[in-house]
Amino acid sequence: MNPTAQKASASVLAQLFEPIRDDLRAVEREFARHVQSQVSVIPAIGAYVKDGGGKRIRPAVLLMAARMAGYSGDRAVLYASVVEFIHTATLVHDDIIDEAELRRGREAAHARWGNHLAVLFGDFLYLKSMSLALTQDNLEIIRLLCDVTLRIVEGEIYQLTKVGDVELSEEEHFDIIRRKTAHLFAGCARIGGMLAPTTAAQQEALWEYGLNIGMAFQIVDDLLDFTGEQEHLGKPVGGDLREGKVTLPVIHLLARGDSRAQALVRSVVRTREASRDQWLELCALLAQARSIDHARRAAVEFVERAKLALHVFPPGAAREALLFLPDYVLARDR
Ligand code: IPE
Ligand code: IPE
Ligand code: MG
Ligand code: MG
Repeated sequence: MNPTAQKASASVLAQLFEPIRDDLRAVEREFARHVQSQVSVIPAIGAYVKDGGGKRIRPAVLLMAARMAGYSGDRAVLYASVVEFIHTATLVHDDIIDEAELRRGREAAHARWGNHLAVLFGDFLYLKSMSLALTQDNLEIIRLLCDVTLRIVEGEIYQLTKVGDVELSEEEHFDIIRRKTAHLFAGCARIGGMLAPTTAAQQEALWEYGLNIGMAFQIVDDLLDFTGEQEHLGKPVGGDLREGKVTLPVIHLLARGDSRAQALVRSVVRTREASRDQWLELCALLAQARSIDHARRAAVEFVERAKLALHVFPPGAAREALLFLPDYVLARDR
């Protein structure tokens, strides 16, 4: 990634996460501590993925939600580490499935250690996350963590069954991204609230916040696959359609029934290849049909819903940060 861009983007996040800076540092330490093993390749991969520079948005949501709900104990850091472990496991496995060689600006774990070790390392992280959560006797939170993790796996499986399907509806697509991405965000926000004496309505509001910000997050991620730059994103651009993954802008384009667009998308999905000319034509068609705008508008709507949900909480620094995070999600370039 271009160092200037990386710095600018990182500094917006650092500012946003300022109220929980120390807790996020503690999450880094927990991460390092819990990938220790006598089987030396485990800490080696663990240190590699930890030091890759993930944005830590999910732990931050959990920590800020806990703050907003009035919790100040040390269990938030533990659960924040748990959700980052779950997230990291999904990425390690996802890159194998997507055959993506680049993650966070460098080789994906499987590109470096091979698929076999990467699958098993992902398994290690999943199980480690649950065993960490089990150190606390909060069954309600453990149940929630299991639920959202199952939703992620279902989402990835559901997505795989729809690879190459140009008939995918917006509704089916939303179902996929709700499962694979939004539920974990929802779980993070809700767990933050569950640590404090919150009402059922407040916990529901946190879930709503997380679910909607998660939807926006994935829509923007899919948009960046068309509009972003690899050096900023730190992962390949243009890969989704070549992998046969039909996302919101393409669904919108296809629904307009333009025969040239139909033929082009079908060809990329069938051959799993896009020449430079095909790619440029596709991007032009997406712009012309306002498909990029359509997806962006959808993300904005989810963001608005996320923000609205927080009004049941009293104002304060943590609520401010949680209200600003959706804007960052819309503006992000990595
Ligand atoms: C990537 O998530 C996976 C998606 C849900 C789109 P992030 O963009 O949060 O990944 P890192 O942790 O910052 O690398
Ligand atoms: C999100 O999907 C991955 C998970 C939720 C596991 P993507 O495949 O779009 O994520 P990136 O683009 O590889 O980060
Ligand atoms: Mg992927
Ligand atoms: Mg993506």
